[in-house]
Amino acid sequence: MAQKTAKKRRKDHAKASFLLLMLSVVLVFGFGLILGKQEQAIQQTAAVPRTSAEEIPTETIIEETVPPETVPETLPEFHPATDFWSAEPHIYLRANHQKQVAIGTKPGFTLANATYHVSDENVAVVDESGIITGVSKGECIVSVYCETETLEIPVTVRELTIQDGCTYVDGILIANKSISLPEDYDPGMLPETVKAFKQLQEAAAAEGLNIYEGSGYRSYQYQIKAYNSLVEAYGHEYADRISAKPGHSEHQTGYTVDCNTINDKFIQTPEGKWLDEHCHEFGFIIRYPEGKEDITGYAYECWHIRYVGVEVATEIYEQGLTLEEYLDVVNIENDIPPTEEETAPDEDMPLEDGYAVFDTTVPEENPDDEEVLQTETVISPYQETVPAVAEDDGIAIIDAPLEAP
Ligand code: DAL
Ligand code: ZN
Repeated sequence: MAQKTAKKRRKDHAKASFLLLMLSVVLVFGFGLILGKQEQAIQQTAAVPRTSAEEIPTETIIEETVPPETVPETLPEFHPATDFWSAEPHIYLRANHQKQVAIGTKPGFTLANATYHVSDENVAVVDESGIITGVSKGECIVSVYCETETLEIPVTVRELTIQDGCTYVDGILIANKSISLPEDYDPGMLPETVKAFKQLQEAAAAEGLNIYEGSGYRSYQYQIKAYNSLVEAYGHEYADRISAKPGHSEHQTGYTVDCNTINDKFIQTPEGKWLDEHCHEFGFIIRYPEGKEDITGYAYECWHIRYVGVEVATEIYEQGLTLEEYLDVVNIENDIPPTEEETAPDEDMPLEDGYAVFDTTVPEENPDDEEVLQTETVISPYQETVPAVAEDDGIAIIDAPLEAP
């Protein structure tokens, strides 16, 4: 009997322990579940964009999980201390052309009440939405007032003139896809280009670098040959990205030099890097910069420099502009078609399927041109991306174009 009672007691004790264990498990699990849900709630709340105070559903801890709003580190260097700035630190436009002031602001700053004012209405006018219209050649300042701040943007209004079939903007001769040179415009390499290039060469030589002329002046007739050889090699579409049609080449202006090897890899050489950084000090610009093909109409040419004078070259270099942007002219590939005034007549260029048709007979060799052809080391910059043109027995006979781009 006593034995039976002891056995029952042990049984009861075991039952109680089991129940106690189960209760603990339930409690621990439940608590964990509550904690988990709370954590989830915090995370969800933190992910909700903070649009307004009412939309923030829970309090306290959330503040610790959302980083405070910060001002982006990449404010433009030229106006770091203001709440708003102009995307273009200097606006260039031609008479009768328009440009809207493009303004960037710090987060949270609104330009709702901005007003615009121009210092000289004989040069340009500005409307209430910041659209500037060029009136006549000159300089003025457009001021933007907002809250307690004022932003002053220098504006230059330019003038396009055509003289003997050549197009000048503020005295700078321009040749691009829209603007051509007359067939008989044949100045040869101009003395100011020769002089400036010599100074550039000497400065480079003083640093142990050898910069030489790969290709210089090219006449209209010579460009026919150059362009046609590229069309033959690569087809119209690609040729038009790397070569100007006759009458549209800067080499015909007498202000242009192709330096050293006509090769994309030139920019990786000490000479290429030096030219890129210093040519403006001698009055030259890299005429077809990288990433600006939509503006210039041509692929990047790290070797092709154009003389514009030290002041203009330095301004263009410092502001990272192309000549088209600086002079406010377009090329044919822009959306805005050139005006009649911008497109010098080009009667000698009949179109067939949208392409110019040229006389393919090779013009009589000019001894100077011959020399360029023979002394030039042309390594095709395009051989990696463009297949060589094979003829007869599949042998590639055009590894490089006849003429440098
Ligand atoms: N390669 C440049 C665009 C020229 O042919 O003038
Ligand atoms: Zn060139």
